[in-house]
Order: sequence, then C-alpha cells, then structure tokens
Amino acid sequence: MAADVPPTLSIQLVEEPRLLKLKKLFVSKFESAPKFYVRAPGRVNLIGEHIDYCGYAVLPMAIEQDILIAAEPLSTSFIHLANTNPFYSDFSINANTIEIDQTKPLWHNYFLCGFKGIEDHFGLGSPSGMNCLIEGTIPPSSGLSSSSALVCCAALVTLMAKEKTLPKVEMAELCAKSERYIGTEGGGMDQSICFLAEKGTAKLIEFNPLRATDVRLPSGAAFVIANSCVEMNKAATSHFNIRVMECRLATKLLAKSRGLDWKATAKLQDVQVKLKLSLEEMLIVVEDVFHPEPYTTEEIGEYLGISSKELRTQILSQNTQDVTAFKLYQRAKHVYSEAARVLEFKKICEEAPDNAVQLLGDLMNQSHASCKDLYECSCPELDRLVDICRQFGAVGSRLTGAGWGGCTVSMVPENKLERFLANVKEAYYKNNNQRSTLEDNSLFATNPGGGAMGFFEA
Ligand code: GLA
Repeated sequence: MAADVPPTLSIQLVEEPRLLKLKKLFVSKFESAPKFYVRAPGRVNLIGEHIDYCGYAVLPMAIEQDILIAAEPLSTSFIHLANTNPFYSDFSINANTIEIDQTKPLWHNYFLCGFKGIEDHFGLGSPSGMNCLIEGTIPPSSGLSSSSALVCCAALVTLMAKEKTLPKVEMAELCAKSERYIGTEGGGMDQSICFLAEKGTAKLIEFNPLRATDVRLPSGAAFVIANSCVEMNKAATSHFNIRVMECRLATKLLAKSRGLDWKATAKLQDVQVKLKLSLEEMLIVVEDVFHPEPYTTEEIGEYLGISSKELRTQILSQNTQDVTAFKLYQRAKHVYSEAARVLEFKKICEEAPDNAVQLLGDLMNQSHASCKDLYECSCPELDRLVDICRQFGAVGSRLTGAGWGGCTVSMVPENKLERFLANVKEAYYKNNNQRSTLEDNSLFATNPGGGAMGFFEA
C-alpha cells in the first residue's frame, strides 16, 4: 500500500544540511517553523520526444536536481510564497480568489496550478492557506522539467497540508491536467516520472492507463546532460501548442481518410489502435495520405467538411487560432517513427546484446535527426552541441525535452567520460561569456534518481 501513496519519511534535520538551511531561512522569513518538507525531481528524457501527448510511451529518468519546499499550513486562507532565489519575487494570494493568468508564465503560477489541482480534486469547503519557502536546483527553461517539478511539489505540499493521500498514479494524472491551467497542452511524461521515478532505473512510461516499467540501462555507459544555454519556456511561445495542434489535425485527417469517426479520434495512437496496424504500417499510411507541403486551414476544413472558423474554434487551442499553415506529413512521420524507437530502445535494454551501447546510441541519433528535420523543434545551438558531443566520444546525442533550446542528453562510454567532459567544456562553453557563467550546472553526468517525497522532522 505504502508504495502507492506519495511516500513520506521521518528524518533528523541535522543529518540533512540542505533542509536545515532551508528551515533557518524559513524561520527568518516567516517567523515560525515549517511543519514539513517536500521534494520533487526534474527529469531527463532519454528517448520519445513529443509523443506523450499523442498517446505513446516515453523513456525518461528523474535527475538529482529538484524543487524543495518547506511548508507550514495556516488557519487563514492566504498563501504566502517566497523563493530562495532573489530573482523570483515573493507572492501572496487569497486562496479563494485564485485565477491563473495564461498570458504570463510567472513562477508562482506553477505553484498555483498544483495547489488548485488538489483543492479542486477534494473540493471540500474553503481552501486553507500556507507559508511556503521554495528552493530549486533544476536550471529553469532548459528542458529538464523545472516547471512540472514545481507543479508536482506544490500539489504534494497541498495534499500533505490537507492530511490526505492519493496513489502516485493519480497524483501524476492530476498534476498533468492542472499544469494545463498555464495554457500549454503538455502530455503527461514530466509529472509521471516526477512521481513514479525510482532510484537506479529509467522508466518506460505508458499512458491510458498510466503505468511505469523499469528499464535497466546498460552498464559501462554514462548519460550526460549539456545545456545549450538557449532558454526555452514552452508557455511563453506558441511553438509547443502548434505541434500539439498539428498532431491533432493529422489525427483527424488520417481518421477521416480511413473511414473512422474523426470527431471521436483524438490522438495519433487512437488511429493506430482503431486501424489495428503496426507502427511501421502507420508510416505507410502517412506516406499515402499526406503531401509534404504545409496544409492551410481551408484545405483541412474542406477535407473534414467543416468551415475554417469551425476548425479554429472547435479544434485549435487559444494561442494557435491565427496559425495558417500546418505540417501534417512531417509531424505524423516523426511521431510514429519515434514511438517505434522507444520500443526498440526498451527491447535492447532488456536483451542487453554485446553491442547494446552502440545500438542505443544509434537510436538516440536517429531521434535527434527526426526532431530536427521532421518535427523542427531543435535550434542551431542544440545541433552544434549535439555535433560537439558526438565528436568527443558520445555514442548517441540528442535534444531532450520540448526543444527549441534547453539541454541535450548524450550517452558516453564510461572510460571516455572524463575526457569527454573536458573537451565539451572547452569546445562549447569556454570562450563564451554567457555560457561559461552557467557552466557549473550546465554539463554533468547523471544517474536515475528517486521520485517526489515528503519529509517530517523526527
Ligand atoms: C514537454 C511536455 C512533455 C513532452 C515534452 C516533449 O516537456 O511537458 O509532456 O511533450 O515536452 O517530449
């Protein structure tokens, strides 16, 4: 039973210098002591990019960097938030009047998403307030899921403040849904790994129903994260939602072309399931149905038998209403081929052939090429960084997370790791002022970390 509920530990604070430090800051800020603490990790996705919202399995692992919150429930309805990073200003709000502004992705809004998710779920009377001090070690806007970690951490804080429990899977689903209050139509990967991660293993995350299976990574290879230092906040632009909409429109056209009820078909995976075809067969259907030139709203409307206005208001999201050209062939081709690569990656990890590292590296390289050329979610700096990583010994290297900036993940034979880190540092970070100031947490090897947890002082 315990495994199903976000776990809590009773700890001696003296043995946890980071918590002790946070407690001291909390006391000086709020003039009272925190009642409990919560941590929620960031993640790195090894393979399976931009396919979770199409229904397909992904393969991430939690990283060591996290969001940590010290919290004290209050008897008033006020939420007071402070951040140890002075870049993020203090914020207070009456919990009865929460409205999440979708026009500006301000840091505290992610907290409010998690808070609101739990409050709406339990829906009991008036919400209770709290004092919270937040510390984050995940580089923001870098594709390592700092925002989802904050949403998940806030949801767990709120759950604990209400003295409730929920299965981890429900927490993950609830947080994926409530993060959409911010306006992005993300899938469920980030919140799922945040709750379902376990130390020492990557996870295959499957959806509908949500479940996580251990994937043992091959020994002898390290996974290295490198930040391109190009910031990408997926809520600040429409890039992300445009891709989600392109996949949605591709779904509708594929369904219609094969005589399915297109209105009742939402995701690219639904088409595959309804047609009972393999991923390879879906790639043939994609070639058959789509032309490579971008589709206009008029052409799509005509194909589906609806007006452009209906298409905009009934299918597109708020921030994609003005988009006039959609690349359906390229996006669908990426999704079905990437979904196949994830399954192949897992199979290689299970079967562990002698050349596993090389085979996995090849899949990571193919994934990057597909993200770059078909999904167009890379950028010149990411491409350059991937090239540098390969040049200095990575067997595979790819962008990770939403893309358009943020980090790469590379698979490096352990005996080459030290040289690799030194060479990449020299080639990408050293002679660039902005990059070298970020350097310390911009390039590091990582191991699969544990999931979100709560702590009480013993
Ligand atoms: C973001 C979203 C995820 C996923 C990735 C791309 O991190 O939150 O749901 O779609 O981008 O793989």
